[in-house]
Amino acid sequence: MKNICEFAPAKVNLTLAAGPKADDGYHPLQSLVSFADIGDHLTFEAEEFLCLEIKGPFGNALKNEADNLVLRAARALQNRVGQKNGARIVLQKELPLASGIGGGSADAAATLRGLNRLWDCRLNTAQMEKLGESLGADVPVCVQGKTRFMCGRGEKLSDITSWPTLYGLLVNPGFAVSTAEVFRRFDAQGSGQVLGKMPLFSAQYTSQALLQLQKYENALSAAACDLKPDIKRLLGRLSEYPQTRFARLCGSGATCLALTENAQQATEIARSIKKNNPNYWVKPVALGSTPRIKNNLVN
Ligand code: C5P
Repeated sequence: MKNICEFAPAKVNLTLAAGPKADDGYHPLQSLVSFADIGDHLTFEAEEFLCLEIKGPFGNALKNEADNLVLRAARALQNRVGQKNGARIVLQKELPLASGIGGGSADAAATLRGLNRLWDCRLNTAQMEKLGESLGADVPVCVQGKTRFMCGRGEKLSDITSWPTLYGLLVNPGFAVSTAEVFRRFDAQGSGQVLGKMPLFSAQYTSQALLQLQKYENALSAAACDLKPDIKRLLGRLSEYPQTRFARLCGSGATCLALTENAQQATEIARSIKKNNPNYWVKPVALGSTPRIKNNLVN
């Protein structure tokens, strides 16, 4: 029987600018988004009905959620293509929940890709991205899992001509953060500036990319640090390592990213952080596009 595997990589906003709240209740964003070489894993098998099994280190927390985004994505695809068959889906949850690295969105996008293959729906990437919009702002960019610009609510995507693989580490201090709450604090602080033209990023070498990125703070950082001072402390601690070029909040937090010049430096910091904070989730990562996804897309 056909058994399809999909990788759902952690999404990392290398930059994140946010404008004031629009009439639809959302904040327009501008972000350079990249993907890590770590993430959740999903498998898909033919079955009469839709069913979802959740495993992995962060699986238990997710089991309490009433309507998982994976099942919502599966139903959305069924409705879109008139599919009557179901599927048995197994989600290996490796990424912490509500942590700013888009785990749920990556899972939803992986579900669209996996079931598109299992059911032979033949939706192309643009069609899957469109369908993803109804599931969450970050789902469209997760469909291709490659470094891209994202604007609007996440529906406007554009390719970047040249961008190197970057190295760093992701650290989650072990508490969830509500994106809606961070945006409320962002509004209360009056932080939303009308967004200008999207800056153009293009680099061939890591050093060039780091110089470009260093100029940009995550616009949600001040609000998230105000809401959860432990995030501010973590960013401060990551910045103190001589190997750290700079540290940034991921999405609306609480995961933080420290960027380094190479993988070795990231591993060194990760070891030290883990030794001092055994309960933290700490992962050295390479950030770029995900070849495993590209090979599974129709076009
Ligand atoms: O994308 P997600 O569903 O995680 O967003 C949760 C909440 O965060 C939204 O309901 C909205 O209140 C807020 N949000 C926003 N602007 C965005 C994204 C999210 O105000 N661009």
